[in-house]
Amino acid sequence: MLKEGDIVLITEISSRHPKSWLLSLAKDTELSTHLGKIFHNQIIGKKYGEVIILTKGKAIIMKPSPRDYLRQFKLKTQILYEDDCAIACSLAGVGSSMKVGEAGTGSGALTMFLAYNVQPSGHVFSYEINEDHLANAQKNLAKTGMTDVVTFKLQDIRLPIEECEFDAFFLDFSSPYEAIDTVAIVLRGGGHLVCFVPNWGQVEKTVAQIRKCPYLIHRETFEITRRNFIVNPNNHIMRPVFRDLVYSGILIHAIRINPD
Ligand SMILES: C[S@@+](CC[C@H](N)C(=O)[O-])C[C@H]1O[C@@H](n2cnc3c(N)ncnc32)[C@H](O)[C@@H]1O
Repeated sequence: MLKEGDIVLITEISSRHPKSWLLSLAKDTELSTHLGKIFHNQIIGKKYGEVIILTKGKAIIMKPSPRDYLRQFKLKTQILYEDDCAIACSLAGVGSSMKVGEAGTGSGALTMFLAYNVQPSGHVFSYEINEDHLANAQKNLAKTGMTDVVTFKLQDIRLPIEECEFDAFFLDFSSPYEAIDTVAIVLRGGGHLVCFVPNWGQVEKTVAQIRKCPYLIHRETFEITRRNFIVNPNNHIMRPVFRDLVYSGILIHAIRINPD
């Protein structure tokens, strides 16, 4: 049963381009939409999957996924999109009770994916050099109700950090090669380092720095591609969309070792 304080996604049905709204349920609260008012009291006490009737249409009550949260974020930087976030988490086996780190925080997209995967007993430490970006990411994360799982730090990741014994660390900023040595020593043995960069030159420098570091072994470097399809069985149409995001960046994966 849904109760006050729960976060739900309300998604319009019977529309070609359904709109969604993320709500933190509070008694006697309402939201005006093009379908009419959504009254929170109408949702409290219901279950995920139930349909609510609005003045000009219907909507379904859903549990938000990381992808749904991301759609509601205000973006002030380039972000790691869901395909890259999902593979990055999978490379490092990010799961419940893990301690993970990342820099830079940016708009908090990867932060949120990490928080979603480590909750309820794990923790994310997120380091960012730009105060304005950090404040925006904190606001974004507040929309998800996962703030207890994340500690945000205004800090240049190229300088030593207080925390240590991370299970995994993620670097997503223009010069990860400048932070490899700082991060390698705060990873646990067998811990994972995942870097994300868009340009070939950055890849070369990052892999070269990983190879120089006695605490890391380079495992793999690759990009993820995705093709979105249009499917319309009535007209026998099925083909990739004509315009799409064709490239995001390159993932570099390394493992922490304990040298002799
Ligand atoms: C591409 S954005 C990160 C996007 C983030 N992964 C996301 O998914 O929203 C890069 C961020 O790194 C920050 N940054 C750049 N150099 C940094 C450093 N040395 N230490 C910490 N953060 C840094 C920038 O201010 C920027 O916010």
